[in-house]
Amino acid sequence: MPLRYRRFYDISVSERILNSAFLLTIGIGYAFALANLYYTHQARDGRRGLSVQDVMIAYHGSTHRTRLEVAINGIMEPNLKYKSDKEVIVKWIHSGAGEAEYHALIAPILNRDCVVCHTPAINPNLPDLTRYAGVSEVAAKSSGATLPALIRVSHIHLFGIAFILYFIGRIFILAEMNVTVKRITVAIPFVAMLLDVAAWYITKSIPGFAYVVVAAGALMGISMGAQILVSLYQMWFHRVHPIPAGAPAGTRARACCGILAELGYELTELPDGWELRDPDGARCRLGTLEELETVCSGLELKHQQSY
Ligand code: HEC
Repeated sequence: MPLRYRRFYDISVSERILNSAFLLTIGIGYAFALANLYYTHQARDGRRGLSVQDVMIAYHGSTHRTRLEVAINGIMEPNLKYKSDKEVIVKWIHSGAGEAEYHALIAPILNRDCVVCHTPAINPNLPDLTRYAGVSEVAAKSSGATLPALIRVSHIHLFGIAFILYFIGRIFILAEMNVTVKRITVAIPFVAMLLDVAAWYITKSIPGFAYVVVAAGALMGISMGAQILVSLYQMWFHRVHPIPAGAPAGTRARACCGILAELGYELTELPDGWELRDPDGARCRLGTLEELETVCSGLELKHQQSY
């Protein structure tokens, strides 16, 4: 076991700047990831805003709502010239979305209000509402995320996030805190991420697991955020003496000795105290442990500020 492990007060200012830039960038990236999540899944259930219901529909699908219904009850509603047409469309969907009724009732509405945007030639990424084939696709019941889609997202997610969590954790372990808390804290985001991904697959069959998706996702975000904040705080604002005051005298003296040796000083134990020799060979006597610690932390601070 080393004399003591590396802590934030051991690292240079350059390393602090590098760590902080990384942590802040990850924090901003995470905020954008949340915004992306919001815009991808919100209003799937027809109501504005993100809810557990939206997550259920995303992974499990919806037995009573189709994409077309969700759209005309949500973000596409203002495009309908007459609100009464909404009922016509919903009735058509519920009666089986047949082709004959489509030509008679639905096509005129869509041609008037929707095809300005929903034409492949204009916007190939939007559902094609100019033909029955395109319309019936969004009028079909949604079955949620497909297995190939989940597998694709899982592997990207696990590879990418594992790297991010690993580097955040490596920085965080330099923090000064209770070791048990630290050991648990570095593991939590990984466990939460695995639980989150597992819950996607389970939600596909059991919609109630959408709550686990949300809870595990939140836990990952919170634990990652806590690691980032603690690291930033301790790196810049927290100056702790490297040797706990309550430690036995022998431990405290040994720790001082280790620090001083790193800085190029030599400490010799005498029957009534210590003799300190600086890198240039100058000597001085230290009588008490408190004196030794004061010199030791003073030199360390000076050393930190000089690189
Ligand atoms: C001004 C252009 C415009 C008009 C007019 C318009 N839409 Fe859209 N529509 C969009 C855009 C842009 C999106 C993609 C929105 C997104 O993914 O957030 C979209 C998405 C959709 C979707 C897919 C939603 C999903 O599940 O991904 C449906 C269904 C839809 N519109 C139906 C309609 C209907 C029905 C009308 C006519 C009442 C209509 N739209 C009129 C621009 C338009």
